[in-house]
Amino acid sequence: MPTVSDRTRNLGTEHAFVVLAEVNTLIAEGKQILSFAIGQPDFITPGNIMDAAKRAMDDGHTGYTASAGIPELRKAAAEYLSATRGIDYTPEDITVANGAKPFIMYSVLAVTDHGAGHEVLYPTPCFSIYESQIIASGAVPVALPLLEREAFGFDLADLKAKINANTRLLMLNSPHNPTGRTLTREELGAIAEVLADYPECWVFSDEVYSQMVHDEPFVSIASLPGMEERTIVLDGLSKSYAMTGWRLGYAANRLLAPYFTTWVANTDSCANHITQWAGVEAITGDQSEHRAMMDSFTRRRNLIVEGLNTLPGIHCLRPGGAFYVWPNVSELCQRTGCADAEALRKRWLYEANVAVLADSHFGPPVPGEGQHVRFSYAASEDNINQGLEKLRQWIGENGG
Ligand SMILES: Cc1ncc(COP(=O)(O)O)c(C=O)c1O
Repeated sequence: MPTVSDRTRNLGTEHAFVVLAEVNTLIAEGKQILSFAIGQPDFITPGNIMDAAKRAMDDGHTGYTASAGIPELRKAAAEYLSATRGIDYTPEDITVANGAKPFIMYSVLAVTDHGAGHEVLYPTPCFSIYESQIIASGAVPVALPLLEREAFGFDLADLKAKINANTRLLMLNSPHNPTGRTLTREELGAIAEVLADYPECWVFSDEVYSQMVHDEPFVSIASLPGMEERTIVLDGLSKSYAMTGWRLGYAANRLLAPYFTTWVANTDSCANHITQWAGVEAITGDQSEHRAMMDSFTRRRNLIVEGLNTLPGIHCLRPGGAFYVWPNVSELCQRTGCADAEALRKRWLYEANVAVLADSHFGPPVPGEGQHVRFSYAASEDNINQGLEKLRQWIGENGG
């Protein structure tokens, strides 16, 4: 009988989709669920971007494109990244793909060899695809726990202890999914200083939430002296322009761009042609709807952090970016008899009809860090208020 490979049987996944399936089942049963589970804007794509896609179809832009992407989009992305990261990118440095996500796999594959003992450092908790792709690629995953006492910032001593001559890649994500933490210029500078002794180590800088910063301007590690050449900058349109289902992302790195292009040729041939023209409009066209969306995330961040901190047994830091908060629910779990954050998540979903993700959806638990859940506040202010009220009621009824 034919068998399935270990690599495939053991492949990780994105748990948000698993919870989404639970939510959809409950909705189909007629339940009203307030969902804070999925990381996608609750807005529809701005009208000028939709119009550009319609024009692209009318103009017959329906065939394959070059695997690296259409020249117009590579130029737009290079100019945007140059302006926002203070680096002189050219269109040749840019590779376009169907979303930012494929570059997680392409990056690990481009800089590590299967079974060669090449190590990849990645933060935990993190977007779960990092770990699954490191393992599936046959590289060695080395977790760098993000600690609450450091507001989920980087533990430099841990980085120094774990980086070595076999380390081929350091994965960074700022603003961060799931904690919402943004790394400051000083923190990035300290990381760059450690890397100076390890010239073989690339940096994968996942910047898909770079336009969602609430307090301080965004800083890319690629902007720091000596970092541009060795850093893969990843950005995309999903989050910033409410285009999750369109699938469009891009990566910038001079040396790796031709290799990424070959990976695109081996997988998708090219990114969706119509979407690429929509992407040109997103980056170069009118930004007013985009700006209004970004402003709303800041208001929602303030609302949800304040609200969560009024709930018994919950403590929530005030993160600087993305659209996530990562409250500590250890005390609430204890008071309500929930063994862990996953047990609490399930009870919130089935008893209070409020959907969130648990810490176990973002990698192995960090010892001593307690229990956390992730709220995505890509939800209206009204839904945030209703969700908080439902939780307050549930806590009151369950001994919290
Ligand atoms: C940290 C991070 N990187 C990458 C992605 C993938 O984004 P895309 O929809 O552009 O593939 C996500 C999506 O949730 C994310 O949270």
